[in-house]
Amino acid sequence: MTKNSSNIRTLFEPKSFAVIGASHDTDKIGYKIMNNIVSGGYAGKVYPINPQGGEILGNRVYKNIEDIEGDVDVASVVIPAKFVLDAVTRCAKKGVKFMQIITSGFSETGNTEEEKKIVAVAREHGMRVLGPNIFGLYSAPASLNSTFSAGTVLPGHVAILTQSGALGIALIGKTAVENIGLSTIVSIGNKCDIDEADLLEYLIKNDDTRVILMYIEGVKNGERLISALMRTTDTKPVVVIKSGRSKRGAMAAASHTGSLAGSDNIFDAIMKQCGVIRADSIDEAFNWCKFLAFSPKPKGNKSVIITNGGGVGVMATDACERYAIDLYDDQAELKRAFESVVPSFGSTKNPVDLTGGAKAQDYDLALSVPTANPGIDATIALYCETATFESADLVPMIKATHKKHLDAGKPVCYAIVGGTAVEDAIIRLRHDNVPVYGDVYQAVSCLGMLYRSERSKTEKTGPAEDADIDIAAINRIVDGALADKRSFLLANEGSAVMRAAGVSIPQTKVAHSIEQAVQIAEEIGYPLVMKIVSKDILHKSDAGGVALDIDNKEEVMDAYEAIIKNCQAYKADAHIDGIEVCEMVQKGTEIIVGARRDASFGPIVMCGFGGIYVEVMKDVAFRGYPFNKAEAMKMLKELRSFPLLLGVRGEPRKDIEGLIDALIKVGTIIRKCPRITDIEINPVVVYEQKRGHKAVDSRILITG
Ligand code: COA
Repeated sequence: MTKNSSNIRTLFEPKSFAVIGASHDTDKIGYKIMNNIVSGGYAGKVYPINPQGGEILGNRVYKNIEDIEGDVDVASVVIPAKFVLDAVTRCAKKGVKFMQIITSGFSETGNTEEEKKIVAVAREHGMRVLGPNIFGLYSAPASLNSTFSAGTVLPGHVAILTQSGALGIALIGKTAVENIGLSTIVSIGNKCDIDEADLLEYLIKNDDTRVILMYIEGVKNGERLISALMRTTDTKPVVVIKSGRSKRGAMAAASHTGSLAGSDNIFDAIMKQCGVIRADSIDEAFNWCKFLAFSPKPKGNKSVIITNGGGVGVMATDACERYAIDLYDDQAELKRAFESVVPSFGSTKNPVDLTGGAKAQDYDLALSVPTANPGIDATIALYCETATFESADLVPMIKATHKKHLDAGKPVCYAIVGGTAVEDAIIRLRHDNVPVYGDVYQAVSCLGMLYRSERSKTEKTGPAEDADIDIAAINRIVDGALADKRSFLLANEGSAVMRAAGVSIPQTKVAHSIEQAVQIAEEIGYPLVMKIVSKDILHKSDAGGVALDIDNKEEVMDAYEAIIKNCQAYKADAHIDGIEVCEMVQKGTEIIVGARRDASFGPIVMCGFGGIYVEVMKDVAFRGYPFNKAEAMKMLKELRSFPLLLGVRGEPRKDIEGLIDALIKVGTIIRKCPRITDIEINPVVVYEQKRGHKAVDSRILITG
């Protein structure tokens, strides 16, 4: 049977549920899960399984899974690790569709073999496995709480997928405090079979889910995840918290989940590419998720800031720039819209300043303007506590103006700053799901993420495209190097790979005699470079094996003799394969292009400005491959030094199209030739538009 033999919906909305290891002991996890299922109001059939038999919470206990007459959609396993494989085998034979393995003590502690056996048995019978090492799953559509969380889960519209079980349980508690309702919360644990990509398939279609929050420590099958995230963010925002940003954090995450945390730069770049929003903290993630779940979508990008204080207005303006929110700038229209509600000494410019004397009714009037004005799409409302504003009016004013925005289908967020009355108001209003924050940046960031998630739907660059490259020729070069027991390609082999991929390289040929060197030089033209070809001499310049700036036939002959003499003196027994005669590359913009097979995400392409830019400024951009030309252009635009390619101070535009072509070709090599693990071309010299580029030095690593 195939891996995907059961519809993932059954995992979330089963008609029958067994708990293997359901316990009579109220202190045990096997009892807590039963209790959550029963008290949560699950309407399907519940089958506790325990060798003692009897009854738990009004449900007949079966001694064995085989004793159950009917079908079992999902079975949760809460018994010690050494008994789990047997239970899995029996469930598989019974025809159980999904298993949730709560038990710890598998790959996360080094017990990888047992986990592999579980997967093998499950696959053989077309059964899917969630876990092991999980806290279970809550699903609002099925009123199913098969977790061992302490409190009840509030049904709602945020879905949480978490790799850390303990954090997940804590998040359930926190969502209750924050009054964030969940459509589901799933613990993914060791991901021996079901991973985030499988779960997203369900969430994409699940109507209850409006926004998805993921906690990720390590990514195992990144290519599947990329594709699932791309499809998810077409319809729903995804917010991700990824631990392991720091080196120490990455080590802790790796030992915690038994999976590699991957390089953070790559993770960051890929999340952006997928339109996923990355949060740094739980609070930030919760704020964004709640806002994204409840706010209407903006119809356009004209936002206004309405404030009673200049300082917070300026802060909000700065925050709008940071979060890429466009402020409405039509001064005449703003004047016309706000003139009647702003005092003569206030300002109708954006920020609209009601000044420190503003009372509740002034806010009421001003905040009603955007709801009725078709030119304004979103509102940022700011309030600094003042003696003129009756504090008792704060909550009613905000509730009323928030409702007006909801009724008008327009986003609004509030930042209110002040003492106890303000803090109390924040707690009350947030409990009612009104987006009120005690900090300007928090409020503005929420609106910023709403815009970002809307933009990511339209800014996707469409289907990816591989380049047409000569894969057979590249494979032959790799075969030769592997037969030679090498894990890298020689310079001339690297050039041959580039030629087979159609990446422009300097003209080059190997000469085996002075006469041949002269003949090649005359064919290529001057100036030229000559280099020793010997696998015994890795550092060619140190050996005197390189001659630059060769301008004529006589210099070719002199250089040939000198190189041979120098190299023989450097290493008498070196085997010399010949001398490479190469076109000398003219100066241009130096770019570094790389591609590698990432352990988590598969093919990755990297690009940056060469020389000091890459070393000192780390001005590089990454993308998961495949991608198309438009995505490659977005990648280049991410580089801080991108204007250099456009041409600054009267310099002409560089051949960006040619560079994009090279990026796609290098990505295609990595994707289509799995034995090539790393490519680095440093530099690719890029010339003026339509004048092309030259890949000067390519280093290629291979594996058998
Ligand atoms: N079929 C059915 N029931 C079985 C069984 C089997 N094959 N083997 C044992 N049981 C019963 C036991 O008799 C016991 O029931 P009882 O209390 O009525 O006697 C129950 O299952 C549990 O077994 P027990 O040996 O008492 O285990 P436990 O409850 O102490 O621990 C786990 C079991 C799964 C909780 C524990 O091994 C574990 O992995 N804990 C970590 C869980 C965790 O943190 N997961 C990750 C969360 S993020």
